Amino acid sequence: MPRTIRKIAINTGGGDAPGLNAVLRSVTLSAIERGIEVWGIKHGYRGLLEDEPGGLVRLDRDAVRGIMHLGGTILGTANRGDPFHYPTHEGDKIVPKDRSAELVERFHREGFDALVAVGGDGSMRIANALLERGLPLVVGVPKTIDNDVYGTELTFGFDTAVSIATEAIDRLHSTTEAHERVMVVEVMGRHTGWIALRSGIAGGADAILVPEAPFSYEPIVEKVMQREARGRRFSIIVAAEGACPKGGDVTVRDAGDAFRRVAVLGGVAERVAKEIGARTGKETRSMVLGHLQRGGGPTTFDRLLALRFGAGAVRFLVQGCESGMVALRCHRVELIPLSETAGRTKTVDLDCDTVTTAREMGICFGDEPPGHFAKEGAASS
Ligand code: F6P
Repeated sequence: MPRTIRKIAINTGGGDAPGLNAVLRSVTLSAIERGIEVWGIKHGYRGLLEDEPGGLVRLDRDAVRGIMHLGGTILGTANRGDPFHYPTHEGDKIVPKDRSAELVERFHREGFDALVAVGGDGSMRIANALLERGLPLVVGVPKTIDNDVYGTELTFGFDTAVSIATEAIDRLHSTTEAHERVMVVEVMGRHTGWIALRSGIAGGADAILVPEAPFSYEPIVEKVMQREARGRRFSIIVAAEGACPKGGDVTVRDAGDAFRRVAVLGGVAERVAKEIGARTGKETRSMVLGHLQRGGGPTTFDRLLALRFGAGAVRFLVQGCESGMVALRCHRVELIPLSETAGRTKTVDLDCDTVTTAREMGICFGDEPPGHFAKEGAASS
């Protein structure tokens, strides 16, 4: 049954991803076409919780003109703005406080009929919890360069990040070969190896390390030495930031705190480079691509996916659907229950066709049995 929606709020939360502005544009335009008012909440939920001028901004045609191709988000974002653990001044201290009831109350007071929450897995979990707290209607729009949101085949931002990482790996080839080095490139991917896998294959890496396959150093060393024996005196290893050695831990740069309750990862490339250098005797270098992967505008693919997700969110709202998250499934934008995605992670299936392709091409994942690459090298020489 179609329902009447008069006023919706939209926010962008968590780490940014190329395509956020395209979502803001398509939500706004497709809502305005139906006579619906759109308001942006600045910096995640901050615009609703803080008494700041401009915390809520009216999104009209002018506000979303010329932004589709731009990176970042015109609303700003936050990764320390969970309303259930919101940084709040208490005397001279800042403490985490549950401000969800206040948020829900302000939402109703402003007359919003629904929230479009654009974010990653954390944002979907928060959106689901706010719904249970009393928000009337929520449609989540999944974004993240990591592509790890459960329930959707793809998130926007991912294609852009893979393209940037692939180009970087392409560029690293010439310098790594010129110096006959081993280069370890660290890409983003906290819990999953989607960026490492796709950019690694497309960029012609010799080894790809992903969180889903804890690695041993032996096969990586074998792979490097096998190439050496064939006269390929350089190797490129792509590691997801969340990759970890078998029986070991992820490499943590910052443990997080009461407001940002997830650790900041980083440094695995340096760790791997040191070990591979010591074991092969080859000069090794590491580099971290970091936030470059999130910067700048979206690819055409991401732009289009973001536009489709945004328009889909408004369409589902006016069609009278329950709260949920828009998701790409078999090339179609569908709505799935928030409870299906909240708290879950979409990991790389090690039996998938892409991993198989990589293995069939001799790319090392660090989980091969001892002698795997050495034997293969001997047979082919
Ligand atoms: O979730 C996306 C992501 O890019 C992760 O891969 C990375 O660990 C994290 O964001 C880093 O975010 P920030 O440095 O902005 O806190």
